[in-house]
Amino acid sequence: MNSASTIDTPIDKMPTDLRPANRRSEIKTQHKKGDGYFDLLAFIISNAVAGEIMAVENYSEMVPLMPDTDSKIETSKLGYEEAKHILMLASLGKRHDYEVMREMIEPQWFNIRRYFSTAVANKDLATCFIIQDLMGETLAIVLYRILKRKGDPDTASLAAKILDDELGHLDFGLSRIQKMLAEDSEGTHESLKWAHHRVMPELFSLISTSCHFLCGRLGVDCGSLTLTDLQTDIDEIRVEALDTYIETLDKANFDPNITAALIESMQSYAGTPSAHAGLSAAVH
Ligand SMILES: [Fe+2]
Ligand SMILES: [Fe+2]
Repeated sequence: MNSASTIDTPIDKMPTDLRPANRRSEIKTQHKKGDGYFDLLAFIISNAVAGEIMAVENYSEMVPLMPDTDSKIETSKLGYEEAKHILMLASLGKRHDYEVMREMIEPQWFNIRRYFSTAVANKDLATCFIIQDLMGETLAIVLYRILKRKGDPDTASLAAKILDDELGHLDFGLSRIQKMLAEDSEGTHESLKWAHHRVMPELFSLISTSCHFLCGRLGVDCGSLTLTDLQTDIDEIRVEALDTYIETLDKANFDPNITAALIESMQSYAGTPSAHAGLSAAVH
């Protein structure tokens, strides 16, 4: 009966098709983007989704540790926003006709999740906030800022929307950490040191166009991915990530003597530019 009534419905009375239109060929012609650009975006957006999945899991794991119902609700809301980001990014891939993984593929994400779970098992809320709200959100902000600046108009406007949320998540973490520093400076600095030496190498190693497994799963050739398709390069992104991380630690009110030593230790991360002005400013 349903199918008969659909057949009888005149075309102009049919419900609007709300499925996103495939805009890949329009972007290719109007914005002069080649297939390499879409392969690069499949890689970046899949890793972004992995970061969002990690955030959903981290926030969910934190809820039982939150001291009262209001803060449990607040933390659940952050997790819900991250879940929305997964759907938004997946629909961008559909619209641009490239595959987006909807699971964590690269080992770094699982490693960070393991560190986070250790902090939860230790009931160490400061470390949880530092890993998710300061470190995770800082890197997310760098990524979405670059996509907003250098992506095609569709990608840029979606990145701008997500970026707004991530800036809010960072602010949430900053105010929590500022409070914790005021209450227990030594303990909170210990949490920072513990998280920094474990999580930052993992996050920085994700700033790369090579992978462990992701390209294989996407069916793209690692060697063919180049950031020139986004008019940028790895060093430029690493410098921006380092600058933003330094800014985050500064805004949180951590002791500059302690953060300078931590930032200096990042020189040992592969590919981090050591002669960088932001780095030397923090160190000296
Ligand atoms: Fe997010
Ligand atoms: Fe976030």
